[in-house]
Amino acid sequence: MTNAKIILAGGSGFIGESLIKYFGTTNKLVVLSRNISKTKNNRNKFSLLTKSEIENVIYCEWDGKNAGDWCNHLEHADILINLSGKSVNCRYTDRNKKEILSSRVDPTKLLGESVAKAKHPPKLWINASSATIYRHATDKPQDEFTGEIKNDFSVQVCKKWEETFYNQSTPATRKIALRMAITLGSGGIMIPYFNLLKFGLGGKQGNGKQMYSWVHIEDTCRMIDWLYNHPQLEGTFNCASPNPVQNIEFMNTLRKISHTGFALPATEWMLKAGAILIGTETELVLKSRWVVPTKILEIGFQFRYPLLTDALTEIFKNTPKKMYSLF
Ligand SMILES: NC(=O)c1ccc[n+]([C@@H]2O[C@H](COP(=O)([O-])OP(=O)(O)OC[C@H]3O[C@@H](n4cnc5c(N)ncnc54)[C@H](OP(=O)(O)O)[C@@H]3O)[C@@H](O)[C@H]2O)c1
Repeated sequence: MTNAKIILAGGSGFIGESLIKYFGTTNKLVVLSRNISKTKNNRNKFSLLTKSEIENVIYCEWDGKNAGDWCNHLEHADILINLSGKSVNCRYTDRNKKEILSSRVDPTKLLGESVAKAKHPPKLWINASSATIYRHATDKPQDEFTGEIKNDFSVQVCKKWEETFYNQSTPATRKIALRMAITLGSGGIMIPYFNLLKFGLGGKQGNGKQMYSWVHIEDTCRMIDWLYNHPQLEGTFNCASPNPVQNIEFMNTLRKISHTGFALPATEWMLKAGAILIGTETELVLKSRWVVPTKILEIGFQFRYPLLTDALTEIFKNTPKKMYSLF
């Protein structure tokens, strides 16, 4: 895609920055953020972007809850991508649970209402969703056609997120929900993995048999580009590599690529205690996410990184050293 106007709601995070890097030089981007001075000036130390890469990006403040001047940016936009959502990397207290849900549902509803009011609304609206919408699966892969959706907290969040998205009436705007698997790139989830390796904890997690669905961030960007360029496509798509692996294989590959020798495994009880200590949930590593991208493969999309070894090799090679300083 070139010369397109792209609006990134919640575009200040890992996936947003990666999209800026991918699309920023040949398109016009607008990032909606709740705190533009923080986003623009105090970029976190793991920011992927250089000053010159954000020169052509417009940062616009919104609160994700109320209409405002930011709505003007929706006019004549080619694509709206909504990535807003509180990180799920926290303890699932009642308060955090409420915020995890509202930080996804409220901006989605607001964007829907604002798109509906626009005189020249975006041609395409892609809303983030998550491959964690499918059940813990150890028996068979889950796809868009036969995947099963059960009832635990994170599944319910994804269900309500997508329901809110599809409930918005935007007849002039094509809609796609992107169920993203764990997205691997320079930043995001790779930072805690590099930290685990540093401290000798890069062994399997739990029994290591749980499936790990992943996607390389470049394929996420390419998939968005591809969906934009196929105007007949709409609805729900899994954004996951066609080759998920078991947790043990993921950790082994990570150690091999990073030339890390022996590493201690983390048993379930260690993970439970550790999760309380560092304020997170074991679900993030123990849930068996076995998700495949049947729909996008059927219509001809080709992954640049279908295999984990190639994906991690590229990431390790191109990740700034400050992210894994012990190596
Ligand atoms: N990374 C993955 O592996 C992955 C996998 C599946 C699904 N997803 C989903 O994809 C989306 C983007 O992921 P990411 O990794 O880029 O996440 P991220 O780095 O945490 O960025 C999410 C952005 O959402 C905004 N946000 C946070 N709390 C908010 C709130 N209460 N109201 C409105 N906006 C809020 C923040 O922007 P401001 O602070 O600037 O407003 C933040 O930069 C998320 O919704 C995530 O759940 C990610």
